Amino acid sequence: MNRTDFPPFDWNADSSHRLLAWFDQHQRDLPWRRQPRNPYHIWVSEVMLQQTTVAAVIPYFERFIAAFPTVEALAAATEQQVLKLWAGLGYYRRARHLYAAAKQLVRDHHGQWPDDPTVWQALPGVGRYILGAVLSQAFDQRWPIVEANSLRVLTRVFGYRGDPRTGLGHKWVWAAAEAVLPGHRCGDFNQALMELGSLVCTPTAPQCDRCPLGTCCQARQRGLQEQIPPKKKPLPSVAVSEVGVVIWKKGRLLLCQRPRTATRWPDLWEVPHAEKLPTEDTAAAAIRIAQELTGYTIEPTAEFITLKHGVTRFAITLVGYEAQYTGGRFRRGPYSQAKWVKPQEFANYPVSSPQRKLLAAVVNSPRQRRLF
Ligand code: ADE
Repeated sequence: MNRTDFPPFDWNADSSHRLLAWFDQHQRDLPWRRQPRNPYHIWVSEVMLQQTTVAAVIPYFERFIAAFPTVEALAAATEQQVLKLWAGLGYYRRARHLYAAAKQLVRDHHGQWPDDPTVWQALPGVGRYILGAVLSQAFDQRWPIVEANSLRVLTRVFGYRGDPRTGLGHKWVWAAAEAVLPGHRCGDFNQALMELGSLVCTPTAPQCDRCPLGTCCQARQRGLQEQIPPKKKPLPSVAVSEVGVVIWKKGRLLLCQRPRTATRWPDLWEVPHAEKLPTEDTAAAAIRIAQELTGYTIEPTAEFITLKHGVTRFAITLVGYEAQYTGGRFRRGPYSQAKWVKPQEFANYPVSSPQRKLLAAVVNSPRQRRLF
Protein backbone atom coordinates (compact mmCIF):
# COMPACT_ATOMS: atom_id res chain seq x y z
CA MET A 1 0.00 0.00 0.00
CA ASN A 2 1.16 3.49 -0.87
CA ARG A 3 1.79 5.46 2.32
CA THR A 4 2.03 9.20 1.94
CA ASP A 5 2.42 11.74 4.70
CA PHE A 6 -0.66 13.91 4.98
CA PRO A 7 -1.84 15.88 8.00
CA PRO A 8 -3.86 13.64 10.35
CA PHE A 9 -7.46 13.09 9.31
CA ASP A 10 -9.94 14.40 11.83
CA TRP A 11 -12.05 11.24 12.21
CA ASN A 12 -13.04 9.21 15.23
CA ALA A 13 -14.85 6.06 16.23
CA ASP A 14 -18.04 8.02 16.77
CA SER A 15 -18.09 9.13 13.10
CA SER A 16 -17.62 5.50 12.00
CA HIS A 17 -20.36 4.40 14.33
CA ARG A 18 -22.83 6.99 12.99
CA LEU A 19 -22.05 6.07 9.38
CA LEU A 20 -22.51 2.34 10.03
CA ALA A 21 -25.74 2.92 11.96
CA TRP A 22 -27.06 4.99 9.04
CA PHE A 23 -26.09 2.22 6.60
CA ASP A 24 -27.82 -0.44 8.71
CA GLN A 25 -31.02 1.57 8.54
CA HIS A 26 -30.97 3.01 5.02
CA GLN A 27 -29.01 0.70 2.72
CA ARG A 28 -30.80 -0.45 -0.43
CA ASP A 29 -31.76 -4.09 -0.77
CA LEU A 30 -29.42 -4.96 -3.63
CA PRO A 31 -29.17 -8.53 -4.92
CA TRP A 32 -25.47 -8.88 -4.14
CA ARG A 33 -25.99 -7.69 -0.57
CA ARG A 34 -28.28 -10.51 0.48
CA GLN A 35 -27.13 -12.63 3.42
CA PRO A 36 -25.15 -14.78 3.77
CA ARG A 37 -22.74 -12.74 1.70
CA ASN A 38 -21.11 -14.70 -1.05
CA PRO A 39 -17.57 -13.85 -2.28
CA TYR A 40 -18.52 -14.81 -5.82
CA HIS A 41 -21.55 -12.47 -5.83
CA ILE A 42 -19.48 -9.67 -4.29
CA TRP A 43 -16.76 -10.05 -6.87
CA VAL A 44 -19.08 -10.23 -9.91
CA SER A 45 -21.11 -7.24 -8.71
CA GLU A 46 -18.07 -5.10 -8.00
CA VAL A 47 -16.62 -5.82 -11.44
CA MET A 48 -19.94 -4.88 -13.04
CA LEU A 49 -20.28 -1.75 -10.88
CA GLN A 50 -16.95 -0.34 -12.03
CA GLN A 51 -17.94 2.39 -14.53
CA THR A 52 -21.65 1.40 -14.41
CA THR A 53 -24.57 2.50 -12.23
CA VAL A 54 -26.34 0.28 -9.69
CA ALA A 55 -29.64 0.54 -11.58
CA ALA A 56 -28.03 -0.59 -14.85
CA VAL A 57 -26.14 -3.43 -13.16
CA ILE A 58 -29.04 -5.12 -11.30
CA PRO A 59 -30.66 -6.97 -14.27
CA TYR A 60 -27.28 -7.93 -15.72
CA PHE A 61 -26.13 -9.26 -12.34
CA GLU A 62 -29.29 -11.33 -11.91
CA ARG A 63 -29.05 -12.86 -15.40
CA PHE A 64 -25.34 -13.52 -14.96
CA ILE A 65 -25.76 -15.29 -11.61
CA ALA A 66 -28.74 -17.30 -12.93
CA ALA A 67 -26.59 -18.51 -15.86
CA PHE A 68 -23.38 -19.00 -13.85
CA PRO A 69 -24.38 -19.56 -10.23
CA THR A 70 -20.87 -20.44 -9.06
CA VAL A 71 -17.30 -19.64 -9.99
CA GLU A 72 -17.00 -23.22 -11.28
CA ALA A 73 -19.98 -22.66 -13.60
CA LEU A 74 -18.40 -19.45 -14.87
CA ALA A 75 -15.05 -21.15 -15.46
CA ALA A 76 -16.78 -23.97 -17.37
CA ALA A 77 -18.63 -21.58 -19.73
CA THR A 78 -17.33 -20.40 -23.08
CA GLU A 79 -16.09 -16.85 -23.47
CA GLN A 80 -18.86 -16.20 -26.00
CA GLN A 81 -21.52 -17.20 -23.44
CA VAL A 82 -19.96 -14.81 -20.93
CA LEU A 83 -19.72 -11.96 -23.43
CA LYS A 84 -23.31 -12.50 -24.49
CA LEU A 85 -24.53 -11.95 -20.94
CA TRP A 86 -22.32 -8.88 -20.69
CA ALA A 87 -23.43 -7.38 -24.00
CA GLY A 88 -24.81 -3.89 -23.40
CA LEU A 89 -22.95 -3.31 -20.10
CA GLY A 90 -19.90 -1.98 -21.93
CA TYR A 91 -16.22 -2.20 -21.04
CA TYR A 92 -16.04 -5.79 -22.25
CA ARG A 93 -12.46 -6.25 -21.11
CA ARG A 94 -13.91 -6.52 -17.60
CA ALA A 95 -15.90 -9.60 -18.63
CA ARG A 96 -12.92 -11.25 -20.27
CA HIS A 97 -10.77 -10.63 -17.21
CA LEU A 98 -13.49 -11.93 -14.88
CA TYR A 99 -13.78 -15.10 -16.95
CA ALA A 100 -9.99 -15.63 -17.14
CA ALA A 101 -9.71 -15.01 -13.38
CA ALA A 102 -12.51 -17.53 -12.67
CA LYS A 103 -10.62 -20.17 -14.65
CA GLN A 104 -7.44 -19.36 -12.72
CA LEU A 105 -9.22 -19.55 -9.33
CA VAL A 106 -10.84 -22.90 -10.13
CA ARG A 107 -7.62 -24.34 -11.54
CA ASP A 108 -5.34 -23.18 -8.71
CA HIS A 109 -7.67 -23.09 -5.71
CA HIS A 110 -10.22 -25.83 -6.46
CA GLY A 111 -13.22 -23.73 -5.48
CA GLN A 112 -11.78 -22.61 -2.14
CA TRP A 113 -12.00 -18.82 -1.92
CA PRO A 114 -8.50 -17.47 -1.26
CA ASP A 115 -8.34 -14.61 1.24
CA ASP A 116 -4.70 -13.89 0.49
CA PRO A 117 -4.28 -10.45 -1.15
CA THR A 118 -1.29 -11.60 -3.18
CA VAL A 119 -3.46 -14.26 -4.85
CA TRP A 120 -6.13 -11.70 -5.73
CA GLN A 121 -3.59 -9.14 -6.93
CA ALA A 122 -2.26 -11.69 -9.41
CA LEU A 123 -5.68 -12.26 -11.04
CA PRO A 124 -6.51 -10.56 -14.34
CA GLY A 125 -8.57 -7.39 -13.88
CA VAL A 126 -7.93 -7.07 -10.13
CA GLY A 127 -6.67 -3.57 -9.40
CA ARG A 128 -6.67 -1.63 -6.17
CA TYR A 129 -10.43 -1.04 -6.17
CA ILE A 130 -11.52 -4.66 -6.77
CA LEU A 131 -8.94 -5.93 -4.30
CA GLY A 132 -10.24 -3.65 -1.54
CA ALA A 133 -13.91 -4.19 -2.40
CA VAL A 134 -13.68 -8.00 -2.41
CA LEU A 135 -11.34 -8.49 0.55
CA SER A 136 -13.16 -6.02 2.77
CA GLN A 137 -16.67 -7.28 1.97
CA ALA A 138 -16.00 -11.01 1.63
CA PHE A 139 -13.42 -11.46 4.41
CA ASP A 140 -13.78 -8.31 6.51
CA GLN A 141 -10.16 -7.41 5.87
CA ARG A 142 -9.04 -3.85 6.42
CA TRP A 143 -8.66 -2.60 2.85
CA PRO A 144 -9.82 0.80 1.62
CA ILE A 145 -11.67 1.47 -1.62
CA VAL A 146 -12.15 4.65 -3.61
CA GLU A 147 -14.72 5.15 -6.35
CA ALA A 148 -16.72 8.18 -7.46
CA ASN A 149 -19.23 8.14 -4.57
CA SER A 150 -16.83 7.58 -1.69
CA LEU A 151 -14.41 10.06 -3.26
CA ARG A 152 -17.12 12.73 -3.03
CA VAL A 153 -17.94 11.91 0.59
CA LEU A 154 -14.30 11.91 1.71
CA THR A 155 -13.31 15.13 -0.04
CA ARG A 156 -16.37 16.92 1.36
CA VAL A 157 -16.05 15.60 4.91
CA PHE A 158 -12.41 16.72 5.11
CA GLY A 159 -12.90 19.84 2.98
CA TYR A 160 -10.18 18.80 0.52
CA ARG A 161 -9.81 21.51 -2.15
CA GLY A 162 -7.39 19.78 -4.57
CA ASP A 163 -8.33 17.50 -7.47
CA PRO A 164 -8.67 13.99 -5.96
CA ARG A 165 -8.54 12.33 -9.39
CA THR A 166 -4.91 13.04 -10.21
CA GLY A 167 -1.42 13.15 -8.71
CA LEU A 168 -1.19 14.12 -5.08
CA GLY A 169 -4.99 14.43 -4.75
CA HIS A 170 -5.36 10.80 -5.82
CA LYS A 171 -2.86 9.74 -3.14
CA TRP A 172 -4.66 11.93 -0.61
CA VAL A 173 -8.06 10.33 -1.21
CA TRP A 174 -6.69 6.77 -0.88
CA ALA A 175 -4.90 7.79 2.32
CA ALA A 176 -8.18 9.28 3.62
CA ALA A 177 -10.10 6.09 2.71
CA GLU A 178 -7.57 4.07 4.68
CA ALA A 179 -7.46 6.43 7.65
CA VAL A 180 -11.21 6.35 8.24
CA LEU A 181 -11.55 2.52 8.14
CA PRO A 182 -12.71 1.07 11.46
CA GLY A 183 -11.17 -2.03 13.05
CA HIS A 184 -14.03 -4.29 11.98
CA ARG A 185 -17.04 -4.27 9.60
CA CYS A 186 -14.70 -2.82 6.97
CA GLY A 187 -16.78 -4.19 4.08
CA ASP A 188 -19.96 -2.61 5.44
CA PHE A 189 -18.07 0.59 6.12
CA ASN A 190 -16.76 0.79 2.53
CA GLN A 191 -20.24 0.14 1.21
CA ALA A 192 -21.67 2.72 3.61
CA LEU A 193 -19.37 5.40 2.17
CA MET A 194 -20.49 4.51 -1.36
CA GLU A 195 -24.16 4.32 -0.34
CA LEU A 196 -24.00 7.69 1.39
CA GLY A 197 -22.45 9.17 -1.75
CA SER A 198 -25.16 7.79 -3.99
CA LEU A 199 -28.21 8.45 -1.74
CA VAL A 200 -27.40 11.57 0.32
CA CYS A 201 -24.06 13.18 -0.55
CA THR A 202 -25.03 13.53 -4.20
CA PRO A 203 -23.06 15.55 -6.78
CA THR A 204 -25.66 18.33 -6.79
CA ALA A 205 -28.15 19.27 -4.08
CA PRO A 206 -26.79 16.94 -1.37
CA GLN A 207 -29.25 16.33 1.47
CA CYS A 208 -26.96 17.48 4.26
CA ASP A 209 -29.73 17.56 6.87
CA ARG A 210 -30.13 13.78 6.47
CA CYS A 211 -26.38 13.05 6.59
CA PRO A 212 -24.91 11.08 9.52
CA LEU A 213 -21.64 12.97 8.98
CA GLY A 214 -23.31 16.39 8.74
CA THR A 215 -21.95 17.64 12.06
CA CYS A 216 -18.31 16.95 11.16
CA CYS A 217 -18.44 17.79 7.45
CA GLN A 218 -16.03 20.59 6.51
CA ALA A 219 -17.67 21.28 3.16
CA ARG A 220 -21.04 21.72 4.85
CA GLN A 221 -19.62 24.00 7.55
CA ARG A 222 -18.04 26.22 4.89
CA GLY A 223 -20.90 25.96 2.36
CA LEU A 224 -18.59 24.38 -0.22
CA GLN A 225 -20.62 21.27 -1.10
CA GLU A 226 -21.01 22.30 -4.75
CA GLN A 227 -17.32 23.18 -5.17
CA ILE A 228 -15.96 19.97 -3.60
CA PRO A 229 -14.83 17.86 -5.35
CA PRO A 230 -13.99 20.15 -8.31
CA LYS A 231 -16.02 19.25 -11.41
CA LYS A 232 -14.26 17.19 -14.07
CA LYS A 233 -13.39 19.36 -17.05
CA PRO A 234 -15.64 18.07 -19.83
CA LEU A 235 -13.69 16.87 -22.86
CA PRO A 236 -14.67 18.62 -26.06
CA SER A 237 -17.13 16.46 -27.93
CA VAL A 238 -16.23 15.38 -31.47
CA ALA A 239 -19.10 14.77 -33.93
CA VAL A 240 -18.67 11.66 -36.11
CA SER A 241 -20.98 10.39 -38.91
CA GLU A 242 -20.97 6.64 -39.39
CA VAL A 243 -22.75 4.25 -41.72
CA GLY A 244 -23.61 0.68 -40.64
CA VAL A 245 -24.34 -1.66 -43.55
CA VAL A 246 -26.85 -4.47 -43.18
CA ILE A 247 -25.96 -6.80 -46.07
CA TRP A 248 -28.66 -9.34 -46.98
CA LYS A 249 -28.14 -12.62 -48.82
CA LYS A 250 -31.02 -15.12 -49.18
CA GLY A 251 -32.84 -14.02 -46.02
CA ARG A 252 -29.70 -13.89 -43.88
CA LEU A 253 -27.62 -10.90 -42.94
CA LEU A 254 -23.93 -10.53 -42.44
CA LEU A 255 -22.55 -10.35 -38.90
CA CYS A 256 -18.82 -9.79 -38.47
CA GLN A 257 -16.73 -10.45 -35.38
CA ARG A 258 -14.43 -7.74 -34.09
CA PRO A 259 -10.88 -8.81 -33.30
CA ARG A 260 -9.90 -9.81 -29.79
CA THR A 261 -7.33 -7.02 -29.77
CA ALA A 262 -9.87 -4.26 -30.52
CA THR A 263 -9.76 -1.46 -27.94
CA ARG A 264 -13.52 -1.20 -27.97
CA TRP A 265 -15.99 -4.11 -28.06
CA PRO A 266 -13.34 -6.85 -28.49
CA ASP A 267 -14.81 -10.14 -29.86
CA LEU A 268 -18.31 -8.69 -30.22
CA TRP A 269 -20.35 -9.17 -33.39
CA GLU A 270 -21.75 -6.37 -35.54
CA VAL A 271 -22.75 -5.27 -39.01
CA PRO A 272 -19.84 -3.57 -40.77
CA HIS A 273 -19.72 0.10 -39.93
CA ALA A 274 -17.26 2.94 -40.36
CA GLU A 275 -17.02 6.67 -40.67
CA LYS A 276 -18.62 8.33 -43.67
CA LEU A 277 -16.31 10.63 -45.60
CA PRO A 278 -17.56 14.20 -45.93
CA THR A 279 -17.38 13.89 -49.73
CA GLU A 280 -19.64 10.82 -50.12
CA ASP A 281 -23.38 10.28 -49.74
CA THR A 282 -24.70 7.49 -47.54
CA ALA A 283 -25.14 4.95 -50.36
CA ALA A 284 -21.59 5.52 -51.63
CA ALA A 285 -20.28 5.19 -48.09
CA ALA A 286 -22.18 1.89 -47.67
CA ILE A 287 -20.60 0.48 -50.87
CA ARG A 288 -17.11 1.55 -49.85
CA ILE A 289 -17.43 0.36 -46.25
CA ALA A 290 -18.72 -3.09 -47.31
CA GLN A 291 -15.85 -3.45 -49.78
CA GLU A 292 -13.12 -2.21 -47.44
CA LEU A 293 -14.20 -4.07 -44.32
CA THR A 294 -15.41 -7.37 -45.80
CA GLY A 295 -14.33 -7.65 -49.46
CA TYR A 296 -18.00 -7.95 -50.57
CA THR A 297 -19.70 -5.95 -53.29
CA ILE A 298 -23.24 -4.78 -52.58
CA GLU A 299 -26.23 -3.08 -54.15
CA PRO A 300 -27.46 -0.47 -51.67
CA THR A 301 -31.22 -0.58 -51.04
CA ALA A 302 -32.35 2.01 -48.48
CA GLU A 303 -31.56 3.84 -45.29
CA PHE A 304 -33.68 2.51 -42.43
CA ILE A 305 -32.65 4.31 -39.25
CA THR A 306 -30.50 7.06 -37.75
CA LEU A 307 -29.20 6.42 -34.23
CA LYS A 308 -27.23 8.69 -31.97
CA HIS A 309 -24.87 7.35 -29.35
CA GLY A 310 -21.77 8.42 -27.50
CA VAL A 311 -18.46 6.61 -27.20
CA THR A 312 -16.03 8.34 -24.85
CA ARG A 313 -15.93 11.87 -26.27
CA PHE A 314 -17.31 11.02 -29.71
CA ALA A 315 -20.90 11.97 -30.46
CA ILE A 316 -21.73 9.42 -33.14
CA THR A 317 -24.57 9.62 -35.62
CA LEU A 318 -24.98 6.14 -37.08
CA VAL A 319 -27.08 5.71 -40.22
CA GLY A 320 -28.25 2.14 -40.85
CA TYR A 321 -28.31 1.22 -44.54
CA GLU A 322 -29.70 -1.98 -46.04
CA ALA A 323 -28.07 -3.57 -49.07
CA GLN A 324 -28.06 -6.78 -51.11
CA TYR A 325 -24.97 -8.93 -51.46
CA THR A 326 -23.87 -9.03 -55.10
CA GLY A 327 -20.49 -10.76 -55.02
CA GLY A 328 -17.02 -11.26 -53.61
CA ARG A 329 -15.39 -13.45 -50.98
CA PHE A 330 -15.01 -12.53 -47.33
CA ARG A 331 -11.61 -11.05 -46.67
CA ARG A 332 -10.26 -11.10 -43.12
CA GLY A 333 -8.90 -7.75 -42.14
CA PRO A 334 -10.60 -5.49 -39.65
CA TYR A 335 -12.90 -8.43 -38.81
CA SER A 336 -11.67 -11.84 -37.72
CA GLN A 337 -14.63 -13.77 -39.17
CA ALA A 338 -18.11 -13.27 -40.59
CA LYS A 339 -21.35 -15.28 -40.67
CA TRP A 340 -24.61 -15.11 -42.58
CA VAL A 341 -27.20 -15.13 -39.82
CA LYS A 342 -30.99 -15.51 -39.82
CA PRO A 343 -32.77 -12.66 -37.99
CA GLN A 344 -34.10 -15.11 -35.37
CA GLU A 345 -30.50 -16.11 -34.55
CA PHE A 346 -29.23 -12.61 -33.62
CA ALA A 347 -29.98 -13.22 -29.98
CA ASN A 348 -27.22 -15.86 -29.85
CA TYR A 349 -24.52 -13.34 -30.67
CA PRO A 350 -23.00 -10.84 -28.24
CA VAL A 351 -23.37 -7.38 -29.78
CA SER A 352 -22.89 -3.85 -28.46
CA SER A 353 -25.86 -1.67 -27.45
CA PRO A 354 -25.89 0.55 -30.57
CA GLN A 355 -25.64 -2.51 -32.81
CA ARG A 356 -28.47 -4.21 -30.94
CA LYS A 357 -30.65 -1.16 -31.66
CA LEU A 358 -29.62 -1.19 -35.30
CA LEU A 359 -30.45 -4.89 -35.68
CA ALA A 360 -33.77 -4.49 -33.88
CA ALA A 361 -34.63 -1.59 -36.21
CA VAL A 362 -33.82 -3.52 -39.36
CA VAL A 363 -35.98 -6.53 -38.53
CA ASN A 364 -38.81 -4.27 -37.42
CA SER A 365 -38.60 -1.94 -40.40
CA PRO A 366 -41.80 -1.87 -42.50
CA ARG A 367 -39.82 -3.15 -45.52
CA GLN A 368 -38.52 -6.22 -43.67
CA ARG A 369 -41.89 -6.90 -42.07
CA ARG A 370 -43.34 -7.10 -45.57
CA LEU A 371 -40.65 -9.55 -46.63
CA PHE A 372 -40.92 -11.99 -43.70
N1 ADE B 1 -20.71 0.85 -6.25
C1 ADE B 1 -19.70 -0.02 -6.31
N2 ADE B 1 -19.82 -0.97 -5.38
C2 ADE B 1 -20.96 -0.72 -4.71
C3 ADE B 1 -21.64 -1.34 -3.64
N3 ADE B 1 -21.17 -2.44 -3.11
N4 ADE B 1 -22.77 -0.77 -3.22
C4 ADE B 1 -23.24 0.35 -3.81
N5 ADE B 1 -22.65 0.99 -4.81
C5 ADE B 1 -21.51 0.46 -5.26
